[in-house]
Amino acid sequence: MEKTIAVLAGDGIGPEVTQECCKILNAVAEKYGHQFTYTKGRIGAEAIDLTGSPLPAETIEVCEAANAILLGAVGDPKYDDPSLKIRPEQGLLAIRKILALYANIRPVKSNKAIAHLCPIKLKEGETLDYVIVRELTSGIYFGNKEQLEDGNAASDTCYYNIDEIDRITKIGLNLAEKRNKKLCLIDKANVLETSRLWRKVVNQYEKERTDINFSYLYIDNATMQVILNPYQFDVIITSNMFGDIISDESSVLAGSLGMLPSGSYGEDKALFEPVHGSYPQAAGKNIANPIASILSGAMMLRYFGLEKEADHIESAIDLVLEHGLGTEDLQMEHKIGTSQFGDILSSIILDDLTSLNVEKILQQVGTII
Ligand code: IPM
Ligand code: MN
Repeated sequence: MEKTIAVLAGDGIGPEVTQECCKILNAVAEKYGHQFTYTKGRIGAEAIDLTGSPLPAETIEVCEAANAILLGAVGDPKYDDPSLKIRPEQGLLAIRKILALYANIRPVKSNKAIAHLCPIKLKEGETLDYVIVRELTSGIYFGNKEQLEDGNAASDTCYYNIDEIDRITKIGLNLAEKRNKKLCLIDKANVLETSRLWRKVVNQYEKERTDINFSYLYIDNATMQVILNPYQFDVIITSNMFGDIISDESSVLAGSLGMLPSGSYGEDKALFEPVHGSYPQAAGKNIANPIASILSGAMMLRYFGLEKEADHIESAIDLVLEHGLGTEDLQMEHKIGTSQFGDILSSIILDDLTSLNVEKILQQVGTII
């Protein structure tokens, strides 16, 4: 298979983790006889620094010409000043909107090998496994924004129309159908008009779809339920803002924000990026965890229909973790660097390894941080 992948590495640790993801995609290409061509585009702070815009027109062209987009991370503290008109994050929001990537899928999975990182005690023998479908191109993120009364008041409008809600509900239902047949809508229907519209749409489906178990939670209760009983979830559908919140919270249960991948899908385009941000403090130190980016790459392969290749990446990651190898944040027995993680993973894929000689690997990769 031949595919063109637009790579927008972005800021902070973005370039480092993306490089490891491409390393793994290359290993898959070599192993299975595919050809991936990478085209590059700038986004975020690096794009502002060079061009004055967080999303230059050239980057949009590169994305439009590609079969899929791999994004690193966006954000730099030097643009944190709230009075600034141009900010790196605008690049990310703009690419989502321009390419109409309305459905953001964020799978949440626990991994036994890093259970020690989870701040709450997970139930013995139970694995956490749910999917968040976050609406990504509307809601309060994209409603009208205003600065009022000489900067002493401001407003953000939360807007949704039925079609925007309907297409997310359909995606949630499709996923639930293939999984455990449970769909939970997270909203704030006791207060927000937009949430009541979400309920109306979802209620309609509930009448028709007797094969699916529907549930509804207010966001305040949902954030508590994620801690109290995360096993109750299968597929969550929710608005842009609530999805942003609940996915960061969920990542903590999965062990580390460095573990969660995501895919953002439109009608004919998709973008894959780790849920984590640019983590500028770790940039350039070879300590960032590349797993979220690499798993995002695996989601991209599934989007291309390359299931077996994606499975291979996921099981290779499990194998590395099972052997107590991981980047610093994972607090494993053997701490390895970002690029070393990619090297090990790459050789597992190329050589079809099913077990590892840890001593030998540590000698080979050398650097232990
Ligand atoms: C995310 C991020 C972004 C968002 C930021 C960087 C604009 O937090 O992808 O979750 O809020 O959508
Ligand atoms: Mn977020």
